[in-house]
Amino acid sequence: MTELPAPGDHPKAGHRRTPGARRARCVAVGTALPERRLTNADLAKLVDTSDEWIVTRTGIRERRMADPGTALSDLAVVAARECLDRAGIQADQLDGIICATITGDHVMPATANIIQHRIGARRAWGYDLLNACNGFLAALNTAAAFVEAGRAERILVVGGDLMSSLVDFRDRNTCVLFGDGCGAVLVEAGPGDGYGLIGFEMHSDGGSAADLIVPCSGSALPATADALARGEQFLKQNGKAVFQQAVRRMAEVSTSLLDGLGLTSADIDLLVPHQANLRIIQPTAERLGVPMEKVVVNIDRVANTTAGTIPLALADAEASGRLHQGTRVLLVAFGGGLTWGAAYLTWGR
Ligand code: ACO
Repeated sequence: MTELPAPGDHPKAGHRRTPGARRARCVAVGTALPERRLTNADLAKLVDTSDEWIVTRTGIRERRMADPGTALSDLAVVAARECLDRAGIQADQLDGIICATITGDHVMPATANIIQHRIGARRAWGYDLLNACNGFLAALNTAAAFVEAGRAERILVVGGDLMSSLVDFRDRNTCVLFGDGCGAVLVEAGPGDGYGLIGFEMHSDGGSAADLIVPCSGSALPATADALARGEQFLKQNGKAVFQQAVRRMAEVSTSLLDGLGLTSADIDLLVPHQANLRIIQPTAERLGVPMEKVVVNIDRVANTTAGTIPLALADAEASGRLHQGTRVLLVAFGGGLTWGAAYLTWGR
């Protein structure tokens, strides 16, 4: 394994971790997907689309859909228990739970509190973090900061969304892109020179907020009968603008992070990108000079689960033997905000 750089030794320290005696490590992942599959052929019965259009434009073949009455916490509890089992940790050993989502059970209370209660994490605090498709990385960054600062030993980072609750199944521009799913990663304190999170870089451009938005979802546009009748409670996107920004920003932030850490693409064993479109993933890998054999792709089976994509992809990589102790991983995401970020880590304890 290549020698890892000393953290914090870079020009943009504000974007990355500072040096310290502790390093936050990602030790296990758990997931939960609804049973029900919605294929492209199923969608073609709802809107004017085809399997051929969806596969060639996005790489998606099917997605999972939660049954009515399912809440995000129902999946999160399954993912959390699986993650803790794999880590060999009891729920009452957790100090905190951060749930990244845009489709929590309610606007209030935060879903993390519901997860905390249902898994019996008696000592843990919990709150949600909303940053769309970049939510999981934002939550991971936050958990790492707590652990590195010595303010927590173990934090469960949950990322997931029930996008079926936000998508208009009459709108072919958006309904084909998304799915439901959830994952959880245990972040734990370890020695400063051990495995774990080496660096982060995060960015925002709120000037482009309208390019990817759920208009009627908060104080800016309360849920009046008129707003609901207009379908403002559903996700809207300027697909082309988001597509172009995603390709550019995911490659840019990855390169900037690697440069800042004194690394190159040769230091990546596994690239785990947010799964929005195979035509975004491929050029990102190409610009980074990472061959597709090193890229995790599961968009064909689960589509875009927003905050769930990265933990679901990590779990897939682990199940297929591509992610194990010491694997050097680059995570990269882009989403509504607009917001994008990357993290570099060595997996395991
Ligand atoms: N089936 C058939 N035709 C369709 C469909 C569909 N499901 N959807 C759109 N079309 C049509 C359009 O109406 C358009 O027709 P027109 O030319 O007659 O107007 C035509 O296909 C071409 O549309 P484009 O927008 O040019 O298609 P494009 O190749 O750009 O692909 C897509 C569209 C897949 C949405 C792409 O732009 C994309 O992936 N964008 C990014 C999505 C994304 O990353 N979202 C961010 C994450 S979400 C989050 O953060 C919560």
